Amino acid sequence: MNEQRETVGHGGTPAAAGGMTVPFFDLGRQTRRLRDDLSRALMDVVDSHRFVLGAVVDDVERKIADSLEVKHAVGVASGSDALLLSLMAAGIGPGDEVIVPAFSFFSTASTPLRLGARVAFADIDVHTFQVDPDEVRRRITSRTRAVVVAHLYGDCADMRRIRAIADAHGVPVIEDAAQAFGARHGGRCAGTMGFSGCFSFYPTKNLAAIGDAGMVVTGDDAVARRLRLLRVHGDVGGYRHTILGVNSRLDAIQAAALRVCLPHVEEWNARRRAIADRYRSGLDGIVAVPAPSALNRPVYHQFVIRTADRDALAAHLRDGGVGTRVYYPLPLHLQEGLAPMTGRPGDCPAAEEAARTCLALPIFPELRDAEVDYVIERVGEFRRGRPAG
Ligand SMILES: Cc1ncc(COP(=O)(O)O)c(C=O)c1O
Repeated sequence: MNEQRETVGHGGTPAAAGGMTVPFFDLGRQTRRLRDDLSRALMDVVDSHRFVLGAVVDDVERKIADSLEVKHAVGVASGSDALLLSLMAAGIGPGDEVIVPAFSFFSTASTPLRLGARVAFADIDVHTFQVDPDEVRRRITSRTRAVVVAHLYGDCADMRRIRAIADAHGVPVIEDAAQAFGARHGGRCAGTMGFSGCFSFYPTKNLAAIGDAGMVVTGDDAVARRLRLLRVHGDVGGYRHTILGVNSRLDAIQAAALRVCLPHVEEWNARRRAIADRYRSGLDGIVAVPAPSALNRPVYHQFVIRTADRDALAAHLRDGGVGTRVYYPLPLHLQEGLAPMTGRPGDCPAAEEAARTCLALPIFPELRDAEVDYVIERVGEFRRGRPAG
């Protein structure tokens, strides 16, 4: 079970050692507020007897497309499937090379491998955790057929530069925007700047379902048509299958839950930004705080600090009742599950440094200012107890 999955439900709250306890994440605070709306929406689906795809899915696809200012949205079963179907829609197959970031969730890099492609890992900028465009430029070869970019932690990769590099080689850019619903880069929404954008609505995400769910967005009519076919085994109707696809349909229960949450997401993202600002002003100069580009408006899926004594800080915070997580303890190029593409230590030094030093602090819309201040105090207390530097 990965770290992310552990957080659902109980919030990963450490044992209280006197004083306040601040959960890393507490989904209960959100679902309690929405309980009546969710119950009604779910019972409407039960009464409709239409559980997979159908009118509710169509409606939430339209609403999400509108909110992201993009032409098409195609509901699928998960964020990982959104990536897989995007790669399939781009025609990725055996022998193709796909550039992926060295630091992200596993499926950003595993999905090309599932199609028989090879991956080339591009290192990140450790200050922003986003893929470094110069690394993308270095890794592009005549065999490159796609670039997958992750907008990590709710910030955005430098899509302007990456698109310029990829466009010059005629290579599509697929955006993994699983953590970045509503984030913007140069005024445009994450997920709408490339070939397609992939979203996860896993329950910890900024826009969340009540189970697994995902979506692909695209501005291209033909790509949207292909995605709609791919998610139903290529069935054009009447059990006539024109292409090889998968079963990856969004179910109506998840779509109904998304429709309840969607009207709140802008306010929730604004609250995440306010919490991030509070952390930043309290922690700047004490630990390395996220440094988004001026072009970006992040949505802070996570607020991730960096410090050389990360494990000691995490233990200190745990003893003080504060939940934290390490996203991600191992960069992708060192994941044994990506064999035979697994690399060696030293291949992507910035991603390796991020994995050694990163620590995600509690951030979710219902987190109170007093809780944020408590976390800031505990971090400051840890630093004061240690020699400077
Ligand atoms: C960056 C990133 N990519 C892809 C995924 C995969 O999404 P899912 O868990 O819905 O398959 C996630 C979430 O887990 C993620 O954070």
